[in-house]
Amino acid sequence: MKWLAALAVLLGWLSPSMTDALNHGVSFSNSEIRIILSHGPSWPPNLAPDPSNRVSGDPAAIALGRQLFADPRLSRGHNRSCATCHEPNRAFTDGLARSIGIARLDRNAPSLFNLRLNRWFGWAGKSDNLWAQSLHPIVDRRELGASADLVAERIAADSALATAYQNVFGSQATTDPPETVLVNVAKALAAFQETLTSGKTPFDHFRDALAAGDRDALARYPLGAQRGLRLFIGKGQCRFCHFGPNFTNGEFHDIGMPYFIDKDRVDPGRYGGIKAVKSSRFNLLGPYNDDESRSTAGPTRHVALLHRNWGEFRIPSLRNVALTAPYMHDGSLATLADVVRHYSELNEDRLHAEGERLLRALRLTPGEIDDLVMFLRSLSVVGHGIQ
Ligand code: HEC
Ligand code: HEC
Repeated sequence: MKWLAALAVLLGWLSPSMTDALNHGVSFSNSEIRIILSHGPSWPPNLAPDPSNRVSGDPAAIALGRQLFADPRLSRGHNRSCATCHEPNRAFTDGLARSIGIARLDRNAPSLFNLRLNRWFGWAGKSDNLWAQSLHPIVDRRELGASADLVAERIAADSALATAYQNVFGSQATTDPPETVLVNVAKALAAFQETLTSGKTPFDHFRDALAAGDRDALARYPLGAQRGLRLFIGKGQCRFCHFGPNFTNGEFHDIGMPYFIDKDRVDPGRYGGIKAVKSSRFNLLGPYNDDESRSTAGPTRHVALLHRNWGEFRIPSLRNVALTAPYMHDGSLATLADVVRHYSELNEDRLHAEGERLLRALRLTPGEIDDLVMFLRSLSVVGHGIQ
């Protein structure tokens, strides 16, 4: 019977009242059900290796990357690592509004789950690939403050590390040009980070139950989350930006967050990101892309700088969002309720003149705010957060 109900739901044969009977909860219309199913297919996705990184998916590279991720030798002062700001037990964030390395950064540290699904990296999309994004913090003087020379030296100085490097890349850290060593280290870090997939969430179980017409499983999804889901895909318009299985369309928007970093400094957002990605020699059009056909470089080749990119930031994935407070590019919103209130009370004058028609002050009731928060929480894995 289950497969018949599933087929019926998929083909849109069931009327809303019948799905209500199946569900014992909120009555979703057939078009709502189609939208809910579009936040699938069933999670987690199958991910192919990254063609721009020849060690993507290679177990030895993953092991080396895992070690280097927490290795303070990648920092000038031997006192910081990637894990300082991306703590594994905090869903790879640091819990701060804005991260602190050698100096305070301008932005909030994002989580590192499901990175294979990104087209752009960082809040402004300053990188078009994961190894370039992993290279920048090593050499940024506010983050780890090292250099290509220093990294090559430190790898060569440890015989176990030098051997692991040679096993993965087939060349030696002592004879490779320092910049090649730096890029290779970043490629191992990328290979490791790609393995961080977030697990199945209560929402995923609900979605799969809807696809399968499994009424017992549907009933396990809290009613508040169901009402929040309806707001998310309906009145809230959230799903137009927080789209598909990873709850992001991967692009950039202005949602009226302030972009002053302090009194006299402004974060240019995507405007700065496009300039940076276009001019980087570590981009997919550059010499370090291992994919000679440049098959994934189209967006980098075609992205154009527009005035509207000023103050736009990347639409974040909402998977595991309950584990990654505080929120937004500057960490200025402490809780998910604050985020929902931001959308509810949105100051429309703050948005670009050319206007993002999707965004209007939603004027939600306190009950609706609770429901939307409950839905957002249901996008997170209960417990440790890693699959
Ligand atoms: C001092 C804190 C700090 C350190 C150290 C640090 N990061 Fe980050 N990381 C950040 C911040 C802040 C951002 C957001 C940057 C931006 O948008 O400009 C970020 C962004 C990223 C992203 C982009 C994620 C996404 O969703 O696009 C990746 C990947 C990443 N870091 C990996 C690393 C790796 C690998 C290391 C070590 C080599 C590292 N980070 C070291 C703070 C840090
Ligand atoms: C027009 C596109 C758009 C729409 C519509 C939209 N968002 Fe967002 N959302 C964004 C962008 C862009 C950011 C990051 C903004 C920033 O950091 O300045 C964001 C950030 C968030 C965050 C913070 C995530 C984090 O990791 O910091 C949450 C939660 C969120 N949105 C939920 C929602 C909900 C709920 C709705 C519907 C009420 C919604 N969004 C509607 C584009 C959108």
